[in-house]
Amino acid sequence: MSQLRIPGMVDAHVHLREPGATHKEDIYSGTVAALAGGVIGVLDMPNNTPPIVRPDRLAAKRKLFEEKAVADYGLFAGSDGTSLEDVIAMAPHAVGLKLYLDETFGDLRNYEPAHLAALFEAWPGPGRIAIHGESDSIRAAISLAERYGQRLHVCHVPDPDDLLVIDAARQRGVDVSCEVTPHHLLLSDEAILRLGSLAQMKPPLVTERKRALFWERLDLVDLIATDHAPHTLEEKAGKKPPPGVPGLETTLPLLLAAVDDGRLVLERLMELVYYGPLRIHQLRAPDDTEVTIDLDEGRYTLERGGYRTRCGWSPFEGVAALGRIARVRLRQCDVFVDGQVRAEAGSGAPLARAG
Ligand code: DOR
Ligand code: ZN
Ligand code: ZN
Repeated sequence: MSQLRIPGMVDAHVHLREPGATHKEDIYSGTVAALAGGVIGVLDMPNNTPPIVRPDRLAAKRKLFEEKAVADYGLFAGSDGTSLEDVIAMAPHAVGLKLYLDETFGDLRNYEPAHLAALFEAWPGPGRIAIHGESDSIRAAISLAERYGQRLHVCHVPDPDDLLVIDAARQRGVDVSCEVTPHHLLLSDEAILRLGSLAQMKPPLVTERKRALFWERLDLVDLIATDHAPHTLEEKAGKKPPPGVPGLETTLPLLLAAVDDGRLVLERLMELVYYGPLRIHQLRAPDDTEVTIDLDEGRYTLERGGYRTRCGWSPFEGVAALGRIARVRLRQCDVFVDGQVRAEAGSGAPLARAG
């Protein structure tokens, strides 16, 4: 029996949809999907309904995680561009501040330039300011981070050329980290012809040429995060399909196939999906935690359906994968064994701050 034992994945970018859109996903179904994918911790985004832009909303969401999560977690605070005080009050309780600088799913976006600068000036940390933004917004955010000495994280880098901009900023001494998604690494705009709205997300898939450049420049990337953004098949089939794709259950098997292909080595994979996320977001690895992956089946191709995420589908249909998650041990407990969840709702814990 051939098995691989790793510390697991920490997914620094997920949307578990609770509160507000639990028909797409909820904290329990989303963290079950996490365990099924070998993900032992998730960092959840604030574009809920209502959005997490006030301390009472962050506290209420934390309470829901305390009651329902089966994987460990951290929560991002958000801003709707109104109250600076509310954002500052959330800082000690959040893993970071997520700002939406360009259009995507949800209502959090388009801050007045003066308010955006004030946010960069006032955010007290200790978490980073993480941004959703297209190339122009990334440049603007880097300038603000530079001006105010703020630590910045660029979510789902939209274009491989942005990696060069980020790298140049680092050379100037700006503390800027970044993530890429599995879909930008493994799917290109060809998938839109094949899958239609199921392959639509923000930022959108890029050309085959740019996809190859993401791999060539992977050394400039701090971490891989899924941007797990479930929407139902009905919503995706509608007139105005919402952007976003799920990813929690598919990322490790997809990237293990990439290791098998010789595109990256296992140590670098673990840096990208585990040590990198913990380091960048200053989190402590949970004790006595291990994911066992069964390799006996060899390579296989992913299916469109049959997942634990409530939305039930994957855009990676037909893509090569390797390994089945056989067991997840989280803080001494076997929480997922042979496809069965053993953890009680609420057994997930907040990821502790490092240092
Ligand atoms: O495609 C996306 N979907 N990109 C985002 O930034 C948000 C996400 C969502 O929440 O659905
Ligand atoms: Zn985003
Ligand atoms: Zn997102």
